[in-house]
Amino acid sequence: MSTEPLLRIDALGIDLPLDGELRTVVHRVDLGIPEGAAVALVGESGSGKSLTARSVLGLLPPGARVHGEVLFAGESVPRMRPERLRAFRATDVAMVFQDPRAHINPARGIGDFLIEGLTTARGVPAAEASRKVTAILREVGIPDAERRMRQRPHELSGGLLQRVMIAAALAAEPRLLLADEPTTALDVTTQEEVMAIIGEARAARGLALLFITHDLELAAAVCDRVAVMYAGTTVEELPADRLRGRASHPYTRALLASRPSVSDIGAQLRSIPGRPLSGFEVPGGCAFGDRCPRARDLCRTDRPEPASVEDGTAACHFPHPLTLEETGRHA
Ligand SMILES: Nc1ncnc2c1ncn2[C@@H]1O[C@H](COP(=O)(O)OP(=O)(O)OP(=O)(O)O)[C@@H](O)[C@H]1O
Ligand SMILES: [Mg+2]
Repeated sequence: MSTEPLLRIDALGIDLPLDGELRTVVHRVDLGIPEGAAVALVGESGSGKSLTARSVLGLLPPGARVHGEVLFAGESVPRMRPERLRAFRATDVAMVFQDPRAHINPARGIGDFLIEGLTTARGVPAAEASRKVTAILREVGIPDAERRMRQRPHELSGGLLQRVMIAAALAAEPRLLLADEPTTALDVTTQEEVMAIIGEARAARGLALLFITHDLELAAAVCDRVAVMYAGTTVEELPADRLRGRASHPYTRALLASRPSVSDIGAQLRSIPGRPLSGFEVPGGCAFGDRCPRARDLCRTDRPEPASVEDGTAACHFPHPLTLEETGRHA
């Protein structure tokens, strides 16, 4: 078996036209997802998570310029020709978005939407497509599939519609699912149900997952590894079980410390001083330098490259060292 991951993003950079000039919004993203594994991409609003996911689909805004490499099973996505890209999106990779209503035609029936995804994009005969869609709707917890397929999107709750979108994604039998904040618009109970459905579908199919969220705790609960993004850069990549309290990058640690948790009740919440930057606002040196409690002169002049720290990487000149005890526990 090859050791090459299913998806490998190498020093990805994205420039977009903003106010008439090209500006760098994603500086450097490095990420690997082995076949069947779940990786989370976590970061604050505007850090570049969605653009990273869109680059995997080759679906960036007009005028975008891509640097670096996005390899799916060894094939370069930025270099795919339009025809190959269409086939790739129809078969190898599928995406679930934060707001399902923005990604479904409100005037068409749910059944038509799901069945056409198979007949048009994958050439599946209509009767077979209908059978398959009904089975997948049951799998994602929609037992009255026949009735739901006759309905329009506005007749379904947000949670049900997100299940329909997950069904559409699974029907394509992709090897990789991109889920971009799939539960942010839902209430807490529905969020848990939707995450459980994604988890079960992954286990049943050996599906790889890129899970985008701003919630570190959820990321660690759902995924094997976590990549943390700040201002257009993946600043740390580490196993999920090292996240809590034992991350190396000061930003990851600050994010965790700023998150309210049950054990913190009554304690004063620590928040990160300053505000998050967008990629195009980043000065020279480390993007997090101005807000970092560990920053020294070097951090203001030299941008840190990602380097191995224990069983992950951190783009930091002065990462938090793991204690011997911590290292031993995870050796
Ligand atoms: N179509 C676009 N044209 C110009 N700039 C864009 C476009 N899409 C995104 N950007 C900019 O790129 C940066 C990263 O955007 P992106 O949507 O990837 O962030 P995000 O991490 O997904 O944030 P959120 O958590 O709010 O979804 C932001 O500064 C955003 O303003
Ligand atoms: Mg986003």
